[in-house]
Amino acid sequence: ACGSDKDSGGSGSGSSKIVLGFSQVGAESGWRTANTKSIQASAGTAGIELKFSDAQQKQENQIAAIRSFIKQKVDVIGFSPVVVTGWDAVLKEAKAAKIPVVLTDRAVDSDPSLYVTFIGSDFVEEGKKAGQWLVDEYKDAKEPVNIIQLEGTVGSAPAIDRKKGFEEVIGSNPNLKVVASQSGDFTRAKGKEVMQALLKANKDVDVLFAHNDDMGLGAMQAIEEAGLTPGKDIKIVTIDAVKDGMTALSEGKFNYIVECSPLLGDQLMATVKKVKAGETVEKRIVTVETVFDQAKAKEALPTRQY
Ligand code: AHR
Repeated sequence: ACGSDKDSGGSGSGSSKIVLGFSQVGAESGWRTANTKSIQASAGTAGIELKFSDAQQKQENQIAAIRSFIKQKVDVIGFSPVVVTGWDAVLKEAKAAKIPVVLTDRAVDSDPSLYVTFIGSDFVEEGKKAGQWLVDEYKDAKEPVNIIQLEGTVGSAPAIDRKKGFEEVIGSNPNLKVVASQSGDFTRAKGKEVMQALLKANKDVDVLFAHNDDMGLGAMQAIEEAGLTPGKDIKIVTIDAVKDGMTALSEGKFNYIVECSPLLGDQLMATVKKVKAGETVEKRIVTVETVFDQAKAKEALPTRQY
């Protein structure tokens, strides 16, 4: 059995409720906390029994949790894979047990016949939107613009895809130069630590692009502690748009945020019900998202849900 399983409600065995086993990445960011809340709340509203397991950002914990769900004969398995590779064996086991799998938030590189659908953002598009802001902001630049990139968890879909989309778009202007690019594992603490080191090694930094708000917030502290003004001396572009990020943006410490919505719970529960009823679902369900500049963040903040 999986030691970290936390049963978040439901009436247990014997109930006629649909049982969903969900393996979450962890609690690494504000985004992730909001995503977990959304899934738990939506399961409650939809009357679905949720078996929730937190993998603490470790693939082996996710594989153990999925195996435990198979053993418990849950109706549907949902999971947000920490990394892209290494899922074939466990997905084949779920298929052999005739338990449908729904991916949320992050993709895998396995054969698509091993899962029913993938609900989540287009991370390449998010990276492109961040890059486009830089292209527009520095369209008249006559000198090199030095950029630091803080990447997400190594091998994760958002880290791979955001980097790809971003670098593709900024490639249109040879003045836009990524002088350093390193993983901060999507956490605030790592974002700060890596930024401290990168600021020591790179004297002339103009822009920070962080793959999520939390790393951007950690890096913001490093910038302030280095005696520089975030949002002015070093411009900051991030992805997510959670409350703390939006607060920094509305205070002028961030310059731009590309939204990545964590509110996937309702879509997940609707999909689980359809799958259980034997209905066909779209193979890819893309989340609708926007972008925020400082003025838009000020407007949106009072009613922001997460
Ligand atoms: O997979 C989504 C990403 O994971 C979010 O952008 C980040 O904050 C989270 O940890």
